[in-house]
Amino acid sequence: MNTLITKDRLDELIRIAKLCPRGPIAEIGVYKGGSLKYLADAFPDRRLYGFDTFEGLPAAYHSEIEIHKPGEFADTHVESVARFINNPRVELIKGLFPESVWAIGDDTRFSFVHVDTDFYLSVKACIEWFVPRMMPGGVMVFDDFDWPNCPGVRKALEESGKLWSPTRAKFQAAIWQRPLVVRNDNDLIGDFIGTIPAMQELAKGAPMEVHCGVSMFELLSMAGLKPHAEWRRHQWTPDERGDLAFDLHAAFKLAAKDNLHMTQANFHAVGLPIPPKPVRPSFVVRRIAQPYFDYILSPFSRSLPENERWPKEYWRQLVDLMPSRQFAVIGGDNDDHDYIPNATTSLFGHHFTCVSNLLKEARYGLISVVTGTSHLAHALGVRNFLFCNQGPWGKNPDAIVFEGNIPSITPEQVVQKLRQWESR
Ligand SMILES: C[S@@+](CC[C@H](N)C(=O)[O-])C[C@H]1O[C@@H](n2cnc3c(N)ncnc32)[C@H](O)[C@@H]1O
Repeated sequence: MNTLITKDRLDELIRIAKLCPRGPIAEIGVYKGGSLKYLADAFPDRRLYGFDTFEGLPAAYHSEIEIHKPGEFADTHVESVARFINNPRVELIKGLFPESVWAIGDDTRFSFVHVDTDFYLSVKACIEWFVPRMMPGGVMVFDDFDWPNCPGVRKALEESGKLWSPTRAKFQAAIWQRPLVVRNDNDLIGDFIGTIPAMQELAKGAPMEVHCGVSMFELLSMAGLKPHAEWRRHQWTPDERGDLAFDLHAAFKLAAKDNLHMTQANFHAVGLPIPPKPVRPSFVVRRIAQPYFDYILSPFSRSLPENERWPKEYWRQLVDLMPSRQFAVIGGDNDDHDYIPNATTSLFGHHFTCVSNLLKEARYGLISVVTGTSHLAHALGVRNFLFCNQGPWGKNPDAIVFEGNIPSITPEQVVQKLRQWESR
């Protein structure tokens, strides 16, 4: 097998690696190539990097605590290892790590890293170099954490002050997983909903740390994600470890630049492959009893300049033109509570479950501008009549759009369109 690692430990390595997001894999400490080949064979579509001196444990990284001697494991050769692995996706990088990293460039991000370098100083160098370069949800496995002949592994990990979880005793390794940290410091619910598909993709089997407000916490729980919630609205400082995975502002910029929907841009922003179409986030909303409405109106949007909105008088006229219909206006606490006073009712700053239920129960659907409610309607599969003159970033891909310049659309035109749908 050309490896010092037992078959059950290799299988455990693969099991853990399969829980990580897709991305490049690295091994530091290749020796004769056994464990690297095992990884390469298990991940036929990944790029893999193998670092080693291929001249044995390096004297330059030896320290007093070591039991192994410099020069051990020198009975190998980079070319014979390359022949043994026999895989064009595997790049062997000969040299002293981390001096040898120039060979792969600084901006590569890793999904899974297997550190099997025995020496304290080598493990320390791996932590320093790889931790900031791990993808969110990515894992580093440190072999020999519990192995008495390699005391430096435990020492380096303990000194690093990270949260290391030793795996099963038989495995004798420790793992560290880069937390997936979600930033949401502005409460833009629609854009936040857009992060859910990418989070679900990243979180497959991996724990997450989500920093968000209480309403977002509820939403994430519905999406089957169990976040550690923390309210940081007024005190966000980017984490020094650089864990910032979801930055709605960064995703927004990418969406605008590349003409993407926010659900796609968030994949892009965290380095996942971009889905070809906007994705419908999936979450299960608890059903609660609601009053009945024909239409839900959501006229507020922070992203639309005042002069590009559908005027307040038009919203009011729309309601007056349809006297037999029940309208509910929804908005946030900071929105104008008298915006459409002639509607049946107004609900501001309401509980997420309540708003979701209102939308799902509405007879004909939601009438909105591009806003969180429109994103939510998409996620819930609720019909959405939409005023939209923005790019694709925030446009509900299933919406029935009122075409044209928003302020020049008349209430009569809107009513005509609504009546057409009502009679279907
Ligand atoms: C225990 S062996 C690796 C065993 C291998 N993973 C297997 O499947 O059998 C440890 C390897 O780490 C390499 N190594 C340790 N520190 C290193 C460093 N700083 N740079 C490059 N290689 C290093 C040694 O050359 C040695 O081949």
